[in-house]
Order: sequence, then structure tokens, then C-alpha cells
Amino acid sequence: MNRIQIRNIGQIGGLSEGEACTPGGNFFTHGGNQGSIWSSTEDAWLLVEGKHIIKWGPMSDEPSLPPHTEVWDANGAWVMPAFVDPHTHLVHSGTREQEWKARLQGASYQEIAAAGGGIMHSVRSLRKAEFSALLDESRIRLESIRSMGVGSLEIKSGYGLDFDSESKMLRTTRTLAHEYPDMNIHSTCLALHAIPPEYCEDANSYVRKVTQEWIPVWAEEGLIDFVDIFCERGYFGLEHLDALLECAHQLGLPVRAHVNQFSVMGAVKRAVEGGALSVDHLEELDDADLEALKNGETYPILLPGCSFFLGIPYASGRKLADAGLRVVVGSDYNPGSAPGFNPFLTLSLSCLKLGLMPEEALNAMTIHAAGSLQLSDRAGSIGRGKEASLLFISGLKDWSTLAYHFGHIPPLRVMLKGRFI
Ligand code: NIG
Ligand code: FE
Repeated sequence: MNRIQIRNIGQIGGLSEGEACTPGGNFFTHGGNQGSIWSSTEDAWLLVEGKHIIKWGPMSDEPSLPPHTEVWDANGAWVMPAFVDPHTHLVHSGTREQEWKARLQGASYQEIAAAGGGIMHSVRSLRKAEFSALLDESRIRLESIRSMGVGSLEIKSGYGLDFDSESKMLRTTRTLAHEYPDMNIHSTCLALHAIPPEYCEDANSYVRKVTQEWIPVWAEEGLIDFVDIFCERGYFGLEHLDALLECAHQLGLPVRAHVNQFSVMGAVKRAVEGGALSVDHLEELDDADLEALKNGETYPILLPGCSFFLGIPYASGRKLADAGLRVVVGSDYNPGSAPGFNPFLTLSLSCLKLGLMPEEALNAMTIHAAGSLQLSDRAGSIGRGKEASLLFISGLKDWSTLAYHFGHIPPLRVMLKGRFI
């Protein structure tokens, strides 16, 4: 087993000392959302054994090295947990620059979708793509996001919308997870992303097909960890969300849901009461939605990259944090509404546009994001026995420096499950 003692660490951030988090566990009770979770230790050493963090302490009190221990001098670099991205559509075929240019000239995302573009554009292209080509294309993105310090991520299907094409997407995600065992890659079925043309606007029949026939097969084959739905006018409604919640409940699969991107329709309350693990987007939010979130356990996941790229309102991160909620932030990386996944830009947008303080934004992209993927026991924080998926960063004045230089990737070394990549 490899054993590495890292010496001369400027500061350790994202410590969750002593936590034995249950899945979906609540770090929030240990210090609120205001940054106290983002506690740090200065001038430190840290011991990694195999894939795990064993212990750490101040350099003034460095123990003698156990035999066969490699030493790495961090030379004053600061260390934090690798980012966790809880919402991506990383597997897709081709990009949509033409539509983006149409938007630059005034067309809206919804107008493009109504004219047969948008998600359906990506569906046509994905259906034609060979599995190997889809895998190659997706692997390039995965390599890129991991090099930027994302150690765990969720990937959705939703550009196939027929059994074989959705299966192709889900298998691509599982293959990537197999190829990159030093990451945690979770697979979400988003077959309820849009109504496919074969169902000629008959959403009810399509939802029945997906919930009663397809999802049970994918669950049986071990292809999915979560299920998701796009609740929106022209897409899926509350009765469809109910059908998904019911199917997920029977199969023991946690639900994530795209809600309130463009309209408030009561989906937040329904999802929270139905026990959904996360509600994602929330650019539009009314008081009833906020109340429902306050009374439930569902994680709110905010996606500032989508608002940035589409020019739509930003979610009220400040309001949600002030309500005491465990705010989570993700990239929403996808070819239509957020074709970028740089976590450092997402961090800056979280501060500048969602109203979070830098430490809150860091919590949102590490500890809380891990909770929203049921990974708190191993990822998203630095604690004994947690995975040694760590970022070593030079040149920080304080943790806010990471968000201050927007879109900038600082000098970075990435360790995933105990090995530098
Ligand atoms: O999360 N809102 C729905 N789905 C994606 C966008 C999908 C696309 O445009 O390709 C989102 O923003
Ligand atoms: Fe999304």
C-alpha cells in the first residue's frame, strides 16, 4: 500500500474532523452554512495511506515517519478536498454553436426549443452516434474536468429518449466510471428530459413507458444510481413527477429533479414532500417553495453557469443560505444551457451572482455537494478515513482568492484517491 506523508502544507481547508456521516448526512448541524465548516489548520502535515486520509497535525508536532513512507513537500501550498459536481450532462454528442449564435442575435432558449432545436437537437445527434464515438467524446470532457480538480461527479442521461439510446448513454457513464476508478462517477436516468417525437406530445404514455418499463430494467442492470425529470411547461408536469417519485420509491432509487428553471408550478413542494434527494435549478422561487425546502430534507442545487450562459435570472443563493439550508452548487455542464464546467468559474459566479460568501460557496461545491450525491462518508471533506482526493493550491492569500480571480485556474496539483494525477 502506498503511504505518503505530505509536509509543509500552508493550510488545510474543508476539515470535517470526527464526522462519521451517514449517507446524505447533515454537516450543516455542525456549524451552519456560514463557513465554520470550512475550518482550517495552518502549517501542517497530512498522512495518506492507500486511498485514504489517515491523520494530520501541525508541523511543530510532526511525528516520525512510519517505515516505507514517501515524503512530498507541499512547499507552502494549501490543501482542500477535490470538488464534487452534483449535476452534469457530460455525456452528449456534438455541440450547439448555431443555436448559441441565434441567441446572441435575440432568439430565446425556449423559442429555439419550440422550433425543434435545443434538447431535441442533441437527441438527434446522440441517436446517430456510435457508442465508441460517444465514449471517446465524453472521455475528453471527463479528462478535462478532472484536471481542474473535480474528483466526484454525477452524469445524467436524457439525450436519447428511446430505450436503446438512453441505454447507450447510461453505459457510457458506467464505462467512464470503470475507466476512472480514482473518481466517484454517479449515473442518473433523465429519460424524462423531454417528450420524444415518437410520442407526439403524449407525455402520459411516455412517462408510463419510462417509469413502468425502462427504469426497472436499468435499475436491474445496475445502470442507474438516481432518477431525474425536467418539470416545466411544455415538458413534464406534477402528475409526471408523482409517477417518477412512486417508481423511484418502489425501486429504492433517490430522485433528483430539474424544477423552477423558468416557471414556478408547485414542483418544489411536491418533490420535497415526495422525499426527493435534490431539487435543481431554482432560478424562480416563491415563498411556498422556500417554506417547503425549510421543512424538508431535500438539497437545493443551484446552477449559476446556466443563468450566466442563458442570461436568465440567478437563483437566490443568499436567501436559501439565510434560511439555514445546505446550499449546493453544480455546473449543469451541457451543450445547450451551460457548456462549461470550470469549477473555479462556478465558484466565482456563486459569490458574485448567487450571493454566497467564498467559504459558503466552497462548502456548496464540496461538503454539501457530496451530501447531495450521498457521498459524505467518503468525499467532499478532509477527515479520517475519507478518500484522499485533494487539491494542492499555491498562491492563496486566503480561501477567497480561489473565487476572486474569476475563471482562473490557480497553480494546482490534483490527488485522487491517494495518487497524484
Ligand atoms: O439543466 N433544463 C433542462 N436541461 C438542461 C439543458 C439541456 C439542453 O439544453 O441541452 C439544463 O439546463
Ligand atoms: Fe441540468
